[in-house]
Amino acid sequence: MGGGTTVVEALRAGRRIVGNDLNALAVFVARVKTTRLSDAEVAAVEAWSGRTVGQMGYRLARQAVASMLDDRRLKNMDLPRARFIKKIVAGAIKAVGELPTQASQDFARCAILRTAQWALDGRETHTSLGEFREKLAWHLTEMLRTSADFWQEPNLANGLRGDACTLCQGDAAGLAEAPVFANPESKASLVVTSPPYPGVHVLYHRWQVDGRRETPAPYWIANCNDGQGASFYNFGDRHEEDLTTYFESSLRTLRSIRRAMKDGAYIVQMVAFSDPDTQLPRYLDNMQDAGFVEAIATHQRAANGADRIWRTVPGRRWYAVLKGDIAASREVVLVHRVAD
Ligand SMILES: C[S@@+](CC[C@H](N)C(=O)[O-])C[C@H]1O[C@@H](n2cnc3c(N)ncnc32)[C@H](O)[C@@H]1O
Repeated sequence: MGGGTTVVEALRAGRRIVGNDLNALAVFVARVKTTRLSDAEVAAVEAWSGRTVGQMGYRLARQAVASMLDDRRLKNMDLPRARFIKKIVAGAIKAVGELPTQASQDFARCAILRTAQWALDGRETHTSLGEFREKLAWHLTEMLRTSADFWQEPNLANGLRGDACTLCQGDAAGLAEAPVFANPESKASLVVTSPPYPGVHVLYHRWQVDGRRETPAPYWIANCNDGQGASFYNFGDRHEEDLTTYFESSLRTLRSIRRAMKDGAYIVQMVAFSDPDTQLPRYLDNMQDAGFVEAIATHQRAANGADRIWRTVPGRRWYAVLKGDIAASREVVLVHRVAD
C-alpha cells in the first residue's frame, strides 16, 4: 500500500479494505491517514502546534534529548547538513509526549516525519530553524484540514464499520494466510497494487543526506523498527543477473494474492521496468502462472501491446536515482482477473 493512497481512496469509495506492506513506515503513515481524531484530539494538536512549534529550538534542553540521540537509527545524522535538524527533530519528538493520546501523538510524529523529509532528503542546502518551524506548522494545519475533509466524505461521515479497514505489516507472500482472509466471504474482489519494480532500485527505507549518504532516521521519527537492506523491499537485488530472485519472489507473492481473491476478482497493478521489452513479457508470464488472465481481450490488443496504459512517472524519487535509464521512468497499468 506504500503511503496508503489506495487505502484512503477505498474508504472514500465505501469499500472494505485490507492494506498490506512489508515496511513499518508505510504502515505507520497509512495508519495515521486512516485514524479519525476526536474533536478533543484535534483541539490538542492545534494547541500543541501553536504552543510547541513556536518555541521549538529553544526547548532543546540537552539532557532531555540526550538519551534519544543515542540511537542506531541516527546513522549519518551527524553530517553537517543533518545534525542541526537532528536536534530540532529530537526536541519536537520529545514534545510529542505532551499530546494526550497515541493517535494524536502519531499524527504529530507524521507531520514531523514529513517536515524532516522535506528538510533533509536529497536537499542540497541547509534548512534554518525558522524554515523548519514554519513548514511544520503548515504541515500540521494542512493535515488537520485534509483529515477533517476526509472524514466528512459521504461514505465516512457516519463512521467506519469495525471491519472496514485492516492494515497489515508483512510479506505479501503470506497474505493469503492472514486471519482477515480466513473466511471465503471476506476474500478480495479487487486488488490494487504497485509491486517492487524489476531492475529498479528504490530507497523505500532511507533518506539521503549530504550528498547521498543514507540514513534510517525516518524509523527513529516514526518510532518503528528499521527494516533491512534495499533488496528486502525490492524483491531482491536489482544488480542480480537475470533478476531470478525478483521474478521468483514476484511469482510467490502473486500466487498468495490469488489465494486471497474471490473467483472472478480483478487485480490492477502499476509496474515500472528497467527494461520493459524483456521484463514485461516475463511479468505477464508470472501473472499467467499465478492464475490470472489479462482483462483486455487479446483480439482487442494491437500487436505491439500499445493499447496498455503507460505513463511517465511523475516526480518520483527513484527517477532521480536512475539517471540515464529512461525506460524505467515509464510505468504500465496492468488489469487482470482471476482465471476461470
Ligand atoms: C512500488 S512501491 C509502491 C509505491 C506506492 N505505489 C506509493 O506510491 O507509495 C512497492 C511497495 O511494496 C512494498 N513491498 C516490497 N516487498 C513487499 C512484500 N514482499 N510484501 C509486501 N509489501 C512489499 C514496499 O515496502 C513498497 O512500499
